[in-house]
Amino acid sequence: MTRTGTDIQFAAELLCNGNVVAIPTETVYGLAANALNKEAVAAIFRIKNRPDFDPLIVHTHSIQEVNKWVSILPPKAEMLAKKFWPGPLTLVLPKSDLIPYEVTSGLDTVGIRIPDHPLTLRLLQAVNFPLAAPSANPFGYVSPTNAQHVEDQLGELIPYILDGGSCTVGIESTIVSFADEKPVILRKGLISREMIEETIGPVDMHIHSSSNPKAPGMLASHYAPKTRVVIADASPLTDASKTGYIAFAAAHRHIPADRQVILSPKADLYEAARSLYAALRRLDQKHLDRILIEKVPETGIGAAINDRIMRAANG
Ligand code: TXA
Ligand code: MG
Repeated sequence: MTRTGTDIQFAAELLCNGNVVAIPTETVYGLAANALNKEAVAAIFRIKNRPDFDPLIVHTHSIQEVNKWVSILPPKAEMLAKKFWPGPLTLVLPKSDLIPYEVTSGLDTVGIRIPDHPLTLRLLQAVNFPLAAPSANPFGYVSPTNAQHVEDQLGELIPYILDGGSCTVGIESTIVSFADEKPVILRKGLISREMIEETIGPVDMHIHSSSNPKAPGMLASHYAPKTRVVIADASPLTDASKTGYIAFAAAHRHIPADRQVILSPKADLYEAARSLYAALRRLDQKHLDRILIEKVPETGIGAAINDRIMRAANG
C-alpha cells in the first residue's frame, strides 16, 4: 500500500534500502531511487514501463555534489548552474565513473540538476547519494504535478509519495547539453533560450526529433493523455458533443463548463504552465472523444507550453 505524507526521514530510509519513492520538485513529480544503486535504478524503469534507451536525470543538492557526478563542468555550464540552480534547468555533462551506465542508458553523459523544492532539497541532504528520477508517470503519459496524480497511476507500485503540494512551475525542466562543443537546448522549459543566451551567449536548439537517440524522451508524441488531443484552431467546432476544451484565458461559448478548463483566466503564462497537465488529466477522465486545446502566446514560457501542447496532440 502506498502512503502519502511529508515524512522526509521515512522517505530517506526507503531510498537507503533501495526502494523507489515519488518526490516533489518545482517542475513535476519525480520517481526517485539511489542513482548509485543499479537494482534500484532498474526498478524505476520497470515501474514506469520506460524503455531502457531513455536516460534518467540525476538530482542533487549542491554544485559541490555535482562535481562528484560529472567529470567536467565547463565554464559556461557552471555559469548556468550558478545562475539558475536550484531551479528548472537540467545540464547534460560528461559523467564521472561513479554514475552507473544504467542511469544514462549507456551514454557517457549524465543529465543533472538541483531541483528547487524545500522538501526534496532536505531529502537530498538526508541521504548520501544522488537521486535518479524521471517524471513519475507511466512512460508516454502526462507528467504528474501533485501527489494525487502520482497516486492515481503508480499508487499500487511504490511504497511512499513525498507530498510537496502542487508543483510551482508545472512543466519539465529545460535541458541544455554540453556533450558537444557548442551548448544545445534539447528540451524547452521555463528557462527560455533568451535567458540562457543572456548568460552564456549563442546556443543551438535541437528539439523533438523522434529519431534522435540522444534525447529519446523528446519523441514528438509524448506527454499525451489517452483521449485524442486536437489543436483548437485547426478544427472548427461543427459538433461539440463528447468534446472537451482547454482554453488559455477565455471560455469557449459552445462547450459546457464541466467539459472545459481555462488555464489562466487572467492570461498569465506561468499560471497556464502550472495548470496544463492537471487540465489534460481532468478531461482525460471524462471518456470524451476528443480534447480541443488552444495554443498560448509563443512568448517567454509560452514556447515551452506550446511544445507540450503539440506533443500531447501528437499522441
Ligand atoms: O523537470 C524535470 O526534468 C523532471 C523532474 C522530475 O526533475 N524530470 C523529467 O525526467 O522530466 P524525464 O525522465 O521525464 O525526462 C528526462 C529527459 C529524458 O527523456 C532524456 O531525453 C533526457 O532527459 N536526458 C537525460 N539524460 C540525458 C543525457 N545524458 N543525454 C541526453 N538527454 C538526456
Ligand atoms: Mg517524462
